[in-house]
Amino acid sequence: MSPLRILFATSECAPWAKTGGLADVSAGLTAALVALGHDVRVLLPAYPSVRAQAEQRPPFWEIPASAHFPACALHQAPLPGGVPAWLVSCPEFYERAGGPYQDGDGNDWPDNARRFGQLARVAALLAGAANPLDWRPQVLHCNDWQTALAPAYLRFAGGARAATVMTIHNLAFQGLFPPEEVARLGLPPASFAIDGLEFWGRLSFLKGGLQYADAITTVSPTYAREIQREPLGFGLHGLLAARRAALHGIANGIDLAAWDPSTDRLIAQRYDADRLTAKAFNKEALQERLGLPREPRAPLLGMVSRLTRQKGIDLVVEVAREIVGLPAQLVVLGAGERDLEAQLEELARANAQRIAVRIGYDEPLAHLIEAGADAFLMPSRFEPCGLNQMYSQRYGTPPIARATGGLADTIVDATPQSIADGTATGFHFAEESPLALLAAVERAAELYRDAKAWRQIQRAGMAADFGWGAAAQRYAALYADLVRPGDADD
Ligand code: ADP
Ligand code: GLC
Repeated sequence: MSPLRILFATSECAPWAKTGGLADVSAGLTAALVALGHDVRVLLPAYPSVRAQAEQRPPFWEIPASAHFPACALHQAPLPGGVPAWLVSCPEFYERAGGPYQDGDGNDWPDNARRFGQLARVAALLAGAANPLDWRPQVLHCNDWQTALAPAYLRFAGGARAATVMTIHNLAFQGLFPPEEVARLGLPPASFAIDGLEFWGRLSFLKGGLQYADAITTVSPTYAREIQREPLGFGLHGLLAARRAALHGIANGIDLAAWDPSTDRLIAQRYDADRLTAKAFNKEALQERLGLPREPRAPLLGMVSRLTRQKGIDLVVEVAREIVGLPAQLVVLGAGERDLEAQLEELARANAQRIAVRIGYDEPLAHLIEAGADAFLMPSRFEPCGLNQMYSQRYGTPPIARATGGLADTIVDATPQSIADGTATGFHFAEESPLALLAAVERAAELYRDAKAWRQIQRAGMAADFGWGAAAQRYAALYADLVRPGDADD
């Protein structure tokens, strides 16, 4: 396959700006595409956290203000993995204390339509006929609503353009804004129509990508099917079903170097599939760090998650007492909705011997939980892909997860058959209910007592290949198809 020039537009990229899995995907997928020989640029806003970590270089393109957007500048800086990032510097939009989408109190920035409209406009300029630079992408790859207007801008600008791919990482976030924004973003009035950007009276950024991109992808095959109907289609199922010939499910990979228990410097004791007894030191270190007593025979269940209803945190809250009564211990690290945070903290206060909760974002603790827990909980209502279930399998910490989206695709449920043939890697439950979750935890706790069977499940998960190679090849084949229709293999 000949090398392609790919512009990867994203609102997050690890390690510079991260609120969730999108950041990991932006870093991991682009590095894997470069390893395949492609020529990639990551387009990302220059938030303060990005400016603080990236090399400072003079801008190579000053983009003048338009009738609708302030001027901005592009700087190049290499990501830690070596992939060149193109940083969009626009102080009035991106340089403020707080997160990429919200202020410190968790309120969305009031000008998010214009902040991400600007990012999409720059992506479209680079991918369109007006790009004055030496480097012009053949493919523009957009991610989530924050960059989804770019295919719409390209469509309305007309003229030669790169092929466009729109990836859905989470359909629950669509970038919905009042209709007045249509004119303020420089979009033609006719675009605000049912077969355009209108969604129940509002402007939908995501619909721009779904309507006008040449191909749509999402981050697992099961999620690609789930979003073509309700409830997980979130109102866009009709459009997605209509475009199903252009819709592809490609499961994410993980960063095998950052998440490797045999080299991980953030855990108490390194180990691998042949030295699994050393994993127990990590359990003790985790218990000590979080003030839990040692209970070597009770399984310790770990969670690292945004604390939201998507992640099924409320299901855990409902049956936490029953779970730890098995007996088991429960460790939760996360941040999110205030009421869920408070309920978890209350549970920890009332069950100090068995439940520990840390509210906040803590990468080193996340690694220690992966290594120290016996099993990992992911009771998500929906999960486009999910990364932690892959991290946990690599750490010999079988996941207990709802069979949805990527959790269905990347975990082999322990059934009599899969246990017998050695393919089981974790535990699935189907129904979205606290009792179904509890039943799956009970099933895991019972198998945990069978040391030999448990080892086999741990080893099968540790042997699975979750690297980015396979996904990168599938994206590359898709790009090639779009750039040279009917000639994908050259
Ligand atoms: P999502 O993007 O929906 O939040 P993913 O499973 O794809 O879910 O990715 C979440 C990423 O964020 C993982 O890398 C996970 O380890 C990390 N993460 C989430 N919450 C925390 C936290 N409180 N501390 C450290 N890492 C976290
Ligand atoms: C979203 C999804 C998550 C997925 C991630 C990266 O945040 O919620 O399931 O793993 O994007 O694609």
